[in-house]
Amino acid sequence: MKAAGEAVALTLKSMINYAKPGMNTLELDQYGAALLKSYGAISAPIKDYKFPGYTCISLNKEAAHGIPSKSKILKEGDLINIDVSAELNGYYGDNGFSFILGNDINGLQPLVSASREILVAALKEIKAGVRIAVVGRFIQQKAAERGFKVIKNLVGHGIGRKLHEDPEEVPCFYDPYNKAVFKKNSVIALETFISTKASFVKEDTDGWTMITRDGSYVAQHEHTLIVTNEEPSVLTWQNGI
Ligand code: CO
Ligand code: CO
Repeated sequence: MKAAGEAVALTLKSMINYAKPGMNTLELDQYGAALLKSYGAISAPIKDYKFPGYTCISLNKEAAHGIPSKSKILKEGDLINIDVSAELNGYYGDNGFSFILGNDINGLQPLVSASREILVAALKEIKAGVRIAVVGRFIQQKAAERGFKVIKNLVGHGIGRKLHEDPEEVPCFYDPYNKAVFKKNSVIALETFISTKASFVKEDTDGWTMITRDGSYVAQHEHTLIVTNEEPSVLTWQNGI
């Protein structure tokens, strides 16, 4: 799990540094594909879902699962989310990162900073025996304090020998009926989905990309971590979140 986590984290970090105005998202994806290959890792979106890209790259009003494309050209001020997940020697790693390219022309840095800072704070709340719903409530409350919403139909998840394992849902909101607790030594992909207004996303006409109905912006940060009795051990720390 450590090796898989490191491979996806280093790939993600390099892709963030590689992104420049004028580049298209297919070029960025192909750069990521070469890195994954160099680590001996196989793209999870392709392997598990036949996704049309090695990584998910979501631009501006694309909330998640954006398809890399020659026709999507990066420009100054873009909100970019890159999500890299892969399998290495039978184990999976998953991580994601939203950022603003260059100058923050559209004033989205507060949203991006909220997502990143709330992820770091939320992972410190995870310990063996803590209810999953309580960490969801923590993320939702921290987002609300900054004037943001959380997306309710995109969630974190267990991860291990598959990309998505038990617990199937690690949400960013409080569900009183969810009595599940974090189990010691289980591995979790914790993800924030912080939004300027909307609470839900829907699938776009391409059958993959998730968008909001009202054009809200969404920022996401994601780490893969091992649950312990203390603070979790983060397996994707190399991504720099
Ligand atoms: Co991910
Ligand atoms: Co994930």
